[in-house]
Amino acid sequence: MPDLTQSLIDNLPKAELHLHIEGTLEPQMMLDMAKRNGVELPYANAEEVAKAYEFDCLQDFLDLYFLGMSVLQTEKDFYDLTWAYLERVHADRLTHVEMFFDPQAHTDRGIAFETVLGGITSALEDARKELGITSKLIMCFLRHLPEEEAFEALECACKHKEHIFGVGLDSTEKGFPPGNFARVFEAARKEGFTPVAHVGEEGTAENVREALDVLKIDRVDHGNHALDDAALTRRLADQQTPLTMCPISNWRLKGIPTLSASPVKKALDAGLLVTVNSDDPSYFGGYLNDNYRAVAEHLDVSEKEIVQLAKNSFAGSFMTDAEKQGQLDRIDKQIDSLRKSQ
Ligand code: ADE
Ligand code: ZN
Repeated sequence: MPDLTQSLIDNLPKAELHLHIEGTLEPQMMLDMAKRNGVELPYANAEEVAKAYEFDCLQDFLDLYFLGMSVLQTEKDFYDLTWAYLERVHADRLTHVEMFFDPQAHTDRGIAFETVLGGITSALEDARKELGITSKLIMCFLRHLPEEEAFEALECACKHKEHIFGVGLDSTEKGFPPGNFARVFEAARKEGFTPVAHVGEEGTAENVREALDVLKIDRVDHGNHALDDAALTRRLADQQTPLTMCPISNWRLKGIPTLSASPVKKALDAGLLVTVNSDDPSYFGGYLNDNYRAVAEHLDVSEKEIVQLAKNSFAGSFMTDAEKQGQLDRIDKQIDSLRKSQ
C-alpha cells in the first residue's frame, strides 16, 4: 500500500456508523467477565474462543454472538465493554460513532434495560469528555423475535429519549422481512427516533426497497444487494441515502468469497454515499482502520476515494450540518499537513 494511503487511513478523522457494541467483546474480556459473573462458557481459553469464530453465514455468527454476550451482567460490564471499544478506536482516529445495541438480547436474560443503557451511556459520556469522541446510540430490534417484543423495547426507549437517538433492525435477515416491523417502526418514528435497518446483507434488493418504503429508513445498514438492482441503485444515488458497508464482516460471513468482491468500489462508482465500518470487530478480526486497509489493499481505489470514504462517514452520519462541516474541515487540514510532511 502506498505510504500516503497508509497515513491517510491512520490519520484522517473518521466516523463509524455501523458498530454493534456487543460485537466488540474480545475473547479475553469475555472469559474474565464469565469468571467474575459465574457464567459457564464452552471455551477453556482465549485461543479456543478465537478458534470457534469460523462462520459459514450470518446465523453461525449470531449463535456465538448471543452466547458470548451472556457474560454481560452488570452496569460495569457494559461500561467496560464500551470504554474498551472507544479507547481502541481512538487510536484509529475515530472522532464520532453511531453505535448499535441489542437490548432484547439482555432483557430476555433478566438484565434490566437501565443496566445496559446506564453502562453504555456512561462510557460514551466519558469518551466525549476524555477522548473528544462524540456519539449517538441506536437501539436495534431483534428481527427473529415477534414485533410485540420490539414494542416492549420501544416502550423502555421512550423513557430515555435523551440517550437514544435512533432505532434499527438486526439479527437474522432471511425469513424475516422488514415489513414485519412496519407498526413498531411507525410508532418509533412518531416518538422521534430516527429509523435505520440492516437489509441487503444476506437478503435481496427487495428487502432494501421494503425498508425504504415501509419502514421509511434514513440509512441502509449493509445494503450490498441493493446494487443487484439498477433502478434501486439509481434511487439511492439520487437521494444520497447513506449505506453503511462492512467489508471484513461480509467476507467473514461468506456474503462475499474474497475481500476483492466487496461492493464498496462499485458503490463509489455508482455515486452512492457509501461508508466503511467494522460491524462486530472482535468476531470478525478487524476494527475500523482494518476495514479501510482491506478496501485499500483489495479494491482498486485511489487516495482520493479513501478520502471520500472518510468524508462520507461524516456526511452519512446523523450529526448536524455544522458538526459535519467541522469534521470535514478537520479532514482537509489533516490532508494538508500530511502532504506537507511527505
Ligand atoms: N447483529 C450483529 N451483527 C449483525 C449483522 N452483521 N447482521 C445482522 N445482525 C447483526
Ligand atoms: Zn450489523
